[in-house]
Amino acid sequence: MPTSKSNGQSRSSVNAATWHSRYPELGTAPVPIEPYISPEFFELERERVFRRAWLCIGREDRIPKPGDFVVKDLAIGKTSILVVRGHDSRLRAFHNSCSHRSNKVQWESRGCASTFTCPFHGWCYGPDGKLIAIPDEKNFFNLDKEQLGLTPIALDTWQGFVFINLNPEQCLREYLGEWADEIEAYPFADNGATCYEYSTEVRCNWKLIRDAFKEAYHVAFLHRRSARDTYTGRKNPFSHALYFKLFALHQRWSLPANPDYQPSPLEAVVYRYASFVLKSDFGHEPPAGVNPTNSPDWVLDTNTIFPNFTIGMLDSGYFTHNFWPIALDRTLWEMRTYLPRPRNAAERFSQEHARVTFRDVMMEDGSTMENTQSVVASGAKSHFNFQDEEILLRHDNKVLAEYIGPTKQGGKVRRKNGANHVRSRAA
Ligand code: FES
Ligand SMILES: [Fe+2]
Repeated sequence: MPTSKSNGQSRSSVNAATWHSRYPELGTAPVPIEPYISPEFFELERERVFRRAWLCIGREDRIPKPGDFVVKDLAIGKTSILVVRGHDSRLRAFHNSCSHRSNKVQWESRGCASTFTCPFHGWCYGPDGKLIAIPDEKNFFNLDKEQLGLTPIALDTWQGFVFINLNPEQCLREYLGEWADEIEAYPFADNGATCYEYSTEVRCNWKLIRDAFKEAYHVAFLHRRSARDTYTGRKNPFSHALYFKLFALHQRWSLPANPDYQPSPLEAVVYRYASFVLKSDFGHEPPAGVNPTNSPDWVLDTNTIFPNFTIGMLDSGYFTHNFWPIALDRTLWEMRTYLPRPRNAAERFSQEHARVTFRDVMMEDGSTMENTQSVVASGAKSHFNFQDEEILLRHDNKVLAEYIGPTKQGGKVRRKNGANHVRSRAA
């Protein structure tokens, strides 16, 4: 049985529901669907959350050399962001918007460049954002080139993750707070030498994707083909978590594998080296920063950083999700899996197996989202009914509402049809 650490946040994976009793301020009532379908709420999310919170855009080792850059089109911020490493090796972020007539200065999504020349009329900027050259400059009127560089955006890093903020109110480390204290010893750099990326646009509200990775209640059902037996079993039929911990904005939870699972001969070989699905069996202690309950059955810790970033931490690597709202019912879902650099063919083969099996599990997760979106705005249901193991969803909705703060309607989102809770299709 897992043992409790000093914070007292662990429990047996088979006990009766108790997580909500540890966080009574959350209540247990059904949770309104309205924030998932309201255009007004979506605009509040844009202005008061995504234009104000620290947002992770990836790892800095994607752009290791001077001149390396990535462009992140941020629909929810109504902007495009150019992140570039300067000749001084410092990372900087700018609005990707030219000082002449505001075209995008860089059209490629990533690359390496010593200067950035706007394709429209050729204004040229350095990687430090300074305006270097203006074609036909003499024909302009009293330009002050010093004042016409790219517009900077706040950027900071934590453990190699790059965060940007359009309107920072506090520094990144303060924003991450106590949550970061608990996991920053994890070897993100060593375990992340190899990165595989997937992205897709999903026709649903961003919170429906976010919610899919905050509980394991669905594992026995949605993942019955791919992962049911590895996570659920006689001891833990509904994949109860080992541990949930709620912070002011962020969250952490921990999941066991099924200790009775019998791997196939192939799995038995590959899981000696890498796995994103099964309990590790690598003959060494898990890395620092994981398995807060010291459970012998531990397989996965998931950390969610408000508002839209998730890090899943395992023994043999980690994965991240970013959920980028495009519109009320459109979201860009980016997933990256990170693995250590393989030392031999066996590790390389095992990592490939881990990558592909994990991708298949993610595709099962993705299968629910547009289905839900297609009926969630019907008005048939006004509330979600969360169980104890869905405490992170309840916490997330509370945190989001509090971060948005009071509205002109006294904290409630105005409805076009004036209906209370139920939104009609016509609205
Ligand atoms: S808009 Fe960039 S040079 Fe004209
Ligand atoms: Fe899942």
